[in-house]
Amino acid sequence: MPFAIKVLLFKIWQFILKWSSKLLPFRTPQMFTGPGSSLQLCEHIAGTGVKKLLIVTDAMLVKIGLLKPMQDKLGQLGVSFVVYDGVLPNPTIEQIETGLAMLKREGCTAILAIGGGSSIDAAKVIAARARNPYPITWMAGLMRILVPPMKLYAVPTTAGTGSEVTIAAVVSDPSTTRKFAIMDTALVPKGAALDGALMTGLPPPITAATGMDALTHAVEAYISRNCTSKTDQMALEATALIMQNLAEAVKNGGNVQARQNMAQASFKAGVAFTIAGVGYVHAIAHNFGAYYHVPHGLANAIILPRVLDFSKPNCTARLAKLAEVSGLKKGGESEAQLADAFIAKVRAMNAEFGIPTQVDKLKEADIPEIAVKAQSETFWFYAVPRYMDTPDCEAFIRQMLPTAA
Ligand SMILES: NC(=O)c1ccc[n+]([C@@H]2O[C@H](COP(=O)([O-])OP(=O)(O)OC[C@H]3O[C@@H](n4cnc5c(N)ncnc54)[C@H](O)[C@@H]3O)[C@@H](O)[C@H]2O)c1
Ligand SMILES: [Fe+2]
Repeated sequence: MPFAIKVLLFKIWQFILKWSSKLLPFRTPQMFTGPGSSLQLCEHIAGTGVKKLLIVTDAMLVKIGLLKPMQDKLGQLGVSFVVYDGVLPNPTIEQIETGLAMLKREGCTAILAIGGGSSIDAAKVIAARARNPYPITWMAGLMRILVPPMKLYAVPTTAGTGSEVTIAAVVSDPSTTRKFAIMDTALVPKGAALDGALMTGLPPPITAATGMDALTHAVEAYISRNCTSKTDQMALEATALIMQNLAEAVKNGGNVQARQNMAQASFKAGVAFTIAGVGYVHAIAHNFGAYYHVPHGLANAIILPRVLDFSKPNCTARLAKLAEVSGLKKGGESEAQLADAFIAKVRAMNAEFGIPTQVDKLKEADIPEIAVKAQSETFWFYAVPRYMDTPDCEAFIRQMLPTAA
């Protein structure tokens, strides 16, 4: 099929998706915000009469004692709980099924996710599987969870994914080298806490990468053809907050105000992209995660400026507006100059944070398959401003080979 016809057909499909998504019951969790708000969330959970909680987290957070104050609070409030700490970055089907088995064995009636996007996503799918007996792979795609999930609460400990407010959970399937998204409004947690004080120990490279993930959500949502006035507002506010706070959070991790502002930014970017969608950056980054275990935020940061270069002819005014809220407008610049200034700023942030320009483990032999998977994800799910044909997508990915530096 000629490329122009394919693009037209998928644009019609995206248009249908945009208007039918207006019928979906998008909601936000009950929010608790500010340093210490994770303890308020514990009080709220206790007030709902939960009998036994499954806490879903990763072993590192248990080791550094991050859960302790929440566990103590739950204990004081008489809420019993068990901890499943088997989640690793880019969670797999197996890790989720192991958590589910613990939930069933222990008779838990609600779930509290404490951690980064990996723990929150794993918890979302455990909650869905607790009520739906069919395989996780059948949940991939849009609105495929038949029975509402078990009650779920979330405390993000990274400022990046926005998973505490999104309809998405991203799962890795090592048997097929695939990382897929489950997208269903039922996955939005019932309650969440944005507690910047929990993030002060996040090491600088993870702070930088997760912060660039949040920036990518804001930017891809803002240049999406499925944006709305609400997603625009959220994306612009998130971008401004990230520009004002990310470098400080990386340099001075103990600055609680900068951490809190990043937590807010990540949440706002989550609200924006859960409605407007993301784009090529994520479609390619998911494959770098599945094939080479590249951390999600790091992959996004490497890809983002290149996708913006490619997309610029079809979204110059939008990139100019992002430059404006990033404080890059001095006066008198054209839209094209401002758009370039924004892309240059993203590259400068990557350089400042020590983020590489290439993907070390990327192999030429994998590129055709990665391009096909990234194209399929983009065409079916994302209303990007400009589409590539598959040979162009391969050439695009080739720029990130270690030998292309
Ligand atoms: N559901 C969504 O809407 C959505 C959106 C974007 C990305 N994702 C997915 O989320 C996952 C990535 O999540 P992430 O970037 O938040 O990272 P992560 O959850 O994988 O955590 C990264 C590392 O940071 C550590 N860590 C987390 N919080 C810490 C803290 N406060 N102090 C010290 N160390 C801490 C963890 O132990 C882990 O080693 C990927 O699988 C990605 O695909 C989901
Ligand atoms: Fe992301």
